[in-house]
Amino acid sequence: KIIILDFGSQTTQLIARRIREQKVYSEIHPYTLPLDRLAALRPTGIVLSGGPASVYDDDAPISDPGVFELGVPVLGICYGAQLMTVQLGGRVERAEKREFGKAQLNIAYTGGLFAGMEVAPAHYQVWMSHGDRIEELAPGFVVTATSGHSPYAAIRHGENPFVGVQFHPEVAHTLIGTDVLRNFIFGLCGCRPDWTMHSFIDSTVAEIRAKVGSDRVICALSGGVDSSVVAALVHRAIGDQLTCIHVNNGLMRTGESESVLRFFREKTSLTVIDVDATEFFLNALDGVADPEEKRKRIGYGFIEIFEAEAKKLGKVRYLAQGTLYPDVIESVVFRGKAPIKSHHNVGGLPERMQLDLIEPLRELFKDEVRELGLELGLPEEAIYRQPFPGPGLGIRIMGAINAERLRILRQADVIVLEEMKDAGWYRKVWQSFAVLLPIQTVGVMGDGRTYEHVIALRCVDSRDAMTADWSQLPYDLLGRISNRIINEVRGVNRVVYDISSKPPATIEWE
Ligand code: XMP
Repeated sequence: KIIILDFGSQTTQLIARRIREQKVYSEIHPYTLPLDRLAALRPTGIVLSGGPASVYDDDAPISDPGVFELGVPVLGICYGAQLMTVQLGGRVERAEKREFGKAQLNIAYTGGLFAGMEVAPAHYQVWMSHGDRIEELAPGFVVTATSGHSPYAAIRHGENPFVGVQFHPEVAHTLIGTDVLRNFIFGLCGCRPDWTMHSFIDSTVAEIRAKVGSDRVICALSGGVDSSVVAALVHRAIGDQLTCIHVNNGLMRTGESESVLRFFREKTSLTVIDVDATEFFLNALDGVADPEEKRKRIGYGFIEIFEAEAKKLGKVRYLAQGTLYPDVIESVVFRGKAPIKSHHNVGGLPERMQLDLIEPLRELFKDEVRELGLELGLPEEAIYRQPFPGPGLGIRIMGAINAERLRILRQADVIVLEEMKDAGWYRKVWQSFAVLLPIQTVGVMGDGRTYEHVIALRCVDSRDAMTADWSQLPYDLLGRISNRIINEVRGVNRVVYDISSKPPATIEWE
């Protein structure tokens, strides 16, 4: 496997994806990973990611220089290449001209990372994003490519398998990026393309069995893709030692709890306990308008209910949870930055109940989880459901939540889903949903004046929820959704379309 040490770049996760797309397993760890633990992972190759810092900053992230003594090939990308240079005795400086965006790469050496490519005057488009640059190579290094502003756009060591690139091979704008990464993992590291979902299931099932032994495991089953896949995977490993608990928090879509329960009870052999806590949650949320406060109350409420149910089961040792890789990154507090939203999974439960966690999806991206679910035999309708947040419709009603507002949003939500599915757009987008804005605007219906609420339609394209853009839905589809909502949902006289990308907006409105 390839281990990626993360120095905080926005694109670190893309490195992992690109490598896994080549069927080679890769894992991301913080740059602070101690050397003995890194060695214990037995990497076949190590990638040092990019990052926003300068190697000479006082608080620059610096990994253990022992990385270069493990006898393993190392690829430094951007900051990673600069760190490699400095740690091995070269020099990096702030460049006079920063280099951002597309650049032309002139290759000087066609072996190593550039095997199969041509030397200058041929050139290749790459994507750069750096303020510092290498000024003096570390002893034993030679330059293998240059670009307009980077005399050392790519480097390699003469004897050891250490290579560095100033550009970002992981982004789509670097047209030779996949080839460069392939040359590293197959050429320099000698990896074999044998990582498949099938092998992932086998090894994960074995790990779960070894870890759990004869203990009992519980799992919160919302019916979303992640929790369904976790439940199916853990069930495959330990069968009836797993009990799932489905909590209806009263903020689900129309008929959602019922259909989730029906599916798991009729189509699988999982044990599912269900709790209808609608009243409990609506009481807890009464009059609460602040988004973080809502998220907190829903999160705590969930913990309380879940804990009470779990206690009835007797001694439980583990909690299985569908944490995905993007959840892991977004909740990492990088140098004291405030978390953007308090994502509610089942955070807080493990400490309170003294449960150990099982998070078999921690290293996976959403599309990989879907592939895994299909491989585990879950039906397509469960796998290709759009993501639905833990706090449910609660964070899609701006301001305080009440029964009337829930009714309006639920009705609008059904219409959005129906029309998206009918038009064949449901699976083309990442998410499509309605948001209720309980401000009132003036309209005219029949001959009368109306003064009613607004529904915002949010529909985005994304690969992993880290970034997203609004979907360019056909006008006639937008028109049908709007018409139906205004005609069929009492209390709404206006529908607007949200055309914000993430960042700077987020996918959900709260
Ligand atoms: P944002 O709004 O942060 O959402 O751009 C990114 C993705 O995460 C989903 N989301 C959540 N999922 N618990 C969840 O399980 C949450 O608290 C939560 N908040 C947002 C959101 O639907 C989108 O897919």
